[in-house]
Amino acid sequence: MKEKNATGILSAPFMTKTIKVINDMWLKGWAERNGGNVSYRLDKNKVGEYLDELSGVRTIQLFNEVRELAGEYFLVTGSGKYFRNVILDPEANLGILKIADDGKSYTILWGLTNGVKPTSELPSHLLSHISRMRATNGSSRVIIHTHATNLIALSYVLELTTENFTKWLWEMSTECLVVFPEGVGVIPWMTPGGEPIGRATAAAIEKHALVLWPFHGVFGAGRDPDEAFGLIDTAEKAATILVKVLSMGGKRQTITDSQFRELARGF
Ligand code: 13P
Ligand code: ZN
Repeated sequence: MKEKNATGILSAPFMTKTIKVINDMWLKGWAERNGGNVSYRLDKNKVGEYLDELSGVRTIQLFNEVRELAGEYFLVTGSGKYFRNVILDPEANLGILKIADDGKSYTILWGLTNGVKPTSELPSHLLSHISRMRATNGSSRVIIHTHATNLIALSYVLELTTENFTKWLWEMSTECLVVFPEGVGVIPWMTPGGEPIGRATAAAIEKHALVLWPFHGVFGAGRDPDEAFGLIDTAEKAATILVKVLSMGGKRQTITDSQFRELARGF
């Protein structure tokens, strides 16, 4: 028989790692007000250690059927909640929900106290999870949406195609091609919070672990909170360099195409 976890769900590694990454986004300046949201598809075995802390009667209909996610548990941020407050009161700002066996609704089993709902971007998160599960044979578990400052700024200046945005960012740091070899997917501006932007994001994120929402932010995916955060952080660093380069009058030299090919061969 499994021993009861002595320290409780607030000390679970999935919880502490998520809270750390959320606070890091605040410190980075990407999370003004309630900007951004996170979802973590939890390993059922790991959730199993805390079942005695998970109970709930609040069941909410989903925007659409997500049969692929039936029975999955997600740790999510609350709608309207400020990232800077998560560290102070995780239970009021985060929640754990379970998708029903028919994929049509979910039940809140922990957190999101005082009637708070999961993030308004739940359609984009859940549909993106389905895409990344397919793309990575199930190893992808975390989706982060954040308002990364310089990536947003560049969406006003660079031509909004996947090829163009990707090439500019790759050129700004040698590590970029290695960290996001499949490039940054760019979708058109769309109204946030709905299923249509969720479908567009999910289609793009199946091919690119990082997707740009022009004039708004990015969606990044990874195996764990660190990997999803690291991906966005790397692209945002390149975007910061590019903003400086453009402010200094533009590039005078860069990584050449043959150097990129050499780099690709090396990794
Ligand atoms: P939520 O507070 O509902 O998560 O919305 C924040 C956001 O960034 C919307 O795109
Ligand atoms: Zn947003």
